[in-house]
Amino acid sequence: MPLRVAVCISGRGSNLTALLDALDTGAPARVVLVLSDRPDAGGLALARGRGVATHVLADYASAAEWLGVLESASAGLIVLAGFLRLVPAPVVARYRNRIINVHPALLPAFGGPGMYGMRVHRAVLASGARESGATVHLVDEVYDRGPILAQARVPVEADDSPERLAARVLEAEHRLLPAVVLAAADAGHPVPLPSALELSR
Ligand code: GAR
Repeated sequence: MPLRVAVCISGRGSNLTALLDALDTGAPARVVLVLSDRPDAGGLALARGRGVATHVLADYASAAEWLGVLESASAGLIVLAGFLRLVPAPVVARYRNRIINVHPALLPAFGGPGMYGMRVHRAVLASGARESGATVHLVDEVYDRGPILAQARVPVEADDSPERLAARVLEAEHRLLPAVVLAAADAGHPVPLPSALELSR
């Protein structure tokens, strides 16, 4: 029985697409639900176009709403893929160690409240860091804090713009996130990627 995956998004959903592409027929995991805090998230149309059920949260802070939707989908794994809100604490408690998040930097650096999207890449460039990358970690009650499961590193080029760095990191996210979900499906729960599998450029 494939692992039933709920994907939470706030925006365009390119990581969702990477997951849908990786988890096609015969895969040990399947995206059964896409949740969004925003009715205009581009990823919602994308999910519908691929026959995946969607739910727009009427109140993203309502644990009862989250739990109702996740339980009726029998979700076994929750993936935050560009989801920009805090998951309500009772949901984290109910799905402890079964919620993962992809972040567009090498945590623990460049994470925390307000650190999302292009803001992260601008901060990386401003710091003078020579590399950046993608992180997948377990979600707890605090933004970007839970244990790290896998990272993929990319170089920061001398003349990078935030947009170019973002595109390079996003490509790494698209490889890393499906690899972590497939490893979770094999193990039955999220696990750190073995270093041999850890993806680097
Ligand atoms: C991704 O880069 C993801 O890592 C980031 O939002 C983008 C969503 O893109 N998430 C965060 O910054 C969370 N802190 P997508 O909608 O195309 O997948």
